[in-house]
Amino acid sequence: MVDAARHPKVEILAYSEVLRVDGYIGNFRVEVMQKPRYVIAENCTGDGECADACPIEVPNEFEMGLAPRKAIDVPHGQAVPLIYAIDMDHCIECYQCVTACGHRDAIDFTQEPELLELEVGSIIVATGFDSFDPTVIPEYGYGPYPNVITAMELERLDNSAGPTIGRLIRPSDGREPKSMAIVQCVGSRDQRFNEYCSGFCCMYAIKNAILLKQMIPDMEITIFYMDIRTPSKGYEEFYNRAREMGIRFIHGRPSQITEDPVTRNLFVEAEDQELGEVLEFEVEMVALSTAAIPRADTEQVASSLTLSRSPSGFFMEYHPKLRPVDSPTDGVFLAGAAQGPKDIPASVAQGSAAAARAARVLSSDTWEIEPIIAKVDEAVCVSAQGTRCGLCVGACPYGAISCVTGEAAQITSAKCHGCGGCVAECPHSAITQDHFTDAQVVAQLSELLRDKPEEKVLAFMCHWCSYGGADMAGTSHFEYPAVSRGIRVMCSARMDSDFVLEAYRRGAGMVLVSGCHPQDCHYITGQQIAAKRFERLHRQLERLGISPERFRVEWISAAEGEKYARVITEMNETLDSIPREQILAENREARATIERRLQRWKNSPQMIELMADLEPETSAEQEVPAS
Ligand code: FES
Repeated sequence: MVDAARHPKVEILAYSEVLRVDGYIGNFRVEVMQKPRYVIAENCTGDGECADACPIEVPNEFEMGLAPRKAIDVPHGQAVPLIYAIDMDHCIECYQCVTACGHRDAIDFTQEPELLELEVGSIIVATGFDSFDPTVIPEYGYGPYPNVITAMELERLDNSAGPTIGRLIRPSDGREPKSMAIVQCVGSRDQRFNEYCSGFCCMYAIKNAILLKQMIPDMEITIFYMDIRTPSKGYEEFYNRAREMGIRFIHGRPSQITEDPVTRNLFVEAEDQELGEVLEFEVEMVALSTAAIPRADTEQVASSLTLSRSPSGFFMEYHPKLRPVDSPTDGVFLAGAAQGPKDIPASVAQGSAAAARAARVLSSDTWEIEPIIAKVDEAVCVSAQGTRCGLCVGACPYGAISCVTGEAAQITSAKCHGCGGCVAECPHSAITQDHFTDAQVVAQLSELLRDKPEEKVLAFMCHWCSYGGADMAGTSHFEYPAVSRGIRVMCSARMDSDFVLEAYRRGAGMVLVSGCHPQDCHYITGQQIAAKRFERLHRQLERLGISPERFRVEWISAAEGEKYARVITEMNETLDSIPREQILAENREARATIERRLQRWKNSPQMIELMADLEPETSAEQEVPAS
């Protein structure tokens, strides 16, 4: 931290908040609010005389409330920068700090928040994590029983720079305890709270147990665990060392902790899964290893930087294996526990990787973008503005589209990732996606359904997952009927409802739309946008008289070749169970309505040209898809 503070090319804006982020890779504009410290940074020497003079004491957050701090203070002794700040929520404006500061004249009660506008090329999000609040598990007694503490509190108590100068004492009576239970997985690996494993709790519990054993050799320490996870270098050896030191490990999660009101000792009840017996231990203190959870402001940060979140709530990386520190927004990188629970070595490695990725952006004069980006036909968009639709804006997961009434929508190419969601949502065919235009998709579709379409299952698949799943089915030699015909688009968001309707107009027997599982979509919310669209489409098909079982939506990952083969087999069975005459009749009866709907394609010169090729006689009259 000190190195960073001294570096001539690093500027630290502590005690500040990011209010807004605009722009794109290489050209971000960041609005930052610097909160008033009521202390002039240049004049503060950090000697702490102001804090000594301050008469107000409040619980110290850094010490987990185990020690007091003053109303004028620094967050902790090694804080960078070491500049005091007044906590106005507790200051009584007695001005004793002003007197103590003397001629340095560093206190300034007139300071106001300051707004800064920064221009930056890349951004690293390293906002860390919060700790799970164990009061929501009443059976563990955190809160009512003073000798039940969290592992973070234990960290402060056994730290030589902590409130007790490294001496472990019981909060109830200030006595040194001779027995301690450490309970693992409090709030994690628990369906009621967080399903995920917090990853680093096993190791810090073992570390604390070894430290305590070194400080108090005759202390009895018992760790209650579900599984001990020691996957990194030297971790298993460290675990073995703890066992050799006499630290007891019980395989079982405690069901409850109760207190003896006289001695304030605690009774921990747990089933030892190795012995199959319910045991009760009397200990003098309990430490709860609480889950690492996403920070409370994660949603706010996610929306200002267009980031996505995994089901556990942490920021999601672009790709877990290939781009683990990139976010879905180009130029924004993730480091540390903001992306998911991780220990110090992993955080440092990821921080270094994120810095290298950010430096790559900063050292480039130009940046290549995907060639599949969306483009607006301004004339069509403007003429459609009477409808004030703006649907494309809401369909873009990257905030790449802006739309002012009366003017054509504008797409910032550098922000577009080419999911195609806006193209599918535009009701006027005013947006196209290079290499995945409506005409290109319809041309494939018409070719695939040229022969006996009523015997085919037409499958629309997203590039990243389902197409890989179909490929996996083939390379794994999973058998399925040869009735499926696939069309690849980048994301399920690109799958236009009209493609499905056009497939039925061209006589398709069954249609499958398939994309990534919700949390796996490569375009943040692309899958969610598609899922809503297909819900609506189900109802539209019903109104058109198409049997609901002839349309199926499935989320298939690239690893699920077996699922792809199963879905196609099932769809083929369904197809076989519907009489051919019924399929032909349904398609015939829906045709006129579908054609009316597809009139929008007349806005697309490519579609007019394609239809002229596909249906020369009728398109000459109608310039739109015709029977
Ligand atoms: Fe597969 Fe979006 S990329 S659904």
